[in-house]
Amino acid sequence: MSNIFFHTGTVAREERSKLLKQTGATLWFTGLSGSGKSTLAMALEQVLIQRGHAAYALDGDNVRLGLNAGPKILADTRGYGEEQAQRFGLGFSAADREENVRRIGEVAKLFADAGLFALTSFISPYRKDRDAARKAHEQNKTGAIPFIEVYVNTPIETCEQRDPKGLYKQARATVGTGKSAGFTGIDDPYEPPVEPELTFDATAQTVEQGVALVLKYLEEKGLLG
Ligand code: PPS
Repeated sequence: MSNIFFHTGTVAREERSKLLKQTGATLWFTGLSGSGKSTLAMALEQVLIQRGHAAYALDGDNVRLGLNAGPKILADTRGYGEEQAQRFGLGFSAADREENVRRIGEVAKLFADAGLFALTSFISPYRKDRDAARKAHEQNKTGAIPFIEVYVNTPIETCEQRDPKGLYKQARATVGTGKSAGFTGIDDPYEPPVEPELTFDATAQTVEQGVALVLKYLEEKGLLG
């Protein structure tokens, strides 16, 4: 039994919505590394801001440099000792990815509760972890928050061909050596969403079309104010 209790503030979400002229929501972009989820989320952020909507993109790599930094970054930048760095730093094991996604889910929920469009782009490879983030939004203590899962459905062949950071090549090089790369799509699973609100096919649609697809959805759901 915890001694921590939720404290409801005196400002209602409707008051913030009135001020911002929009209701917040989380747009959860999921897909393989190199699928284009960050590109799409950032293009959408740009358009939303241009149109006067408060939006903020939380990006995988950026968050892994700060809030969810790995042990080495914590040791180098914060002076954490080995034990502390291992304890608080996040890598790419299944447990660490779960924690990464849990924290992002919580942060996105707070942003959306504040009235913003929170745009998250993380591989978030495991279905149960994305579902848990969705559930946290649905069960938010100050009222349910829209959670819109956008599946960036780019085949692994395309992602591997792009390989912007050379990570697929690196992971492939370990195959057959007895070592594990733990790289998503190579020797770590990616579980595609079963019923995402939206699917973006990066091989058939342009980024502009992807942005339009999401905007149309937000409009239809009355989320653009
Ligand atoms: S996760 O699975 O949601 O926790 O991953 P995420 O926080 O989105 O971080 C993915 C980016 O980290 C790089 N990277 C790896 N990806 C997958 N597997 C392994 N082992 C790995 N190691 C490093 C990779 O460049 C991802 O960047 P994106 O932007 O997705 O291409």
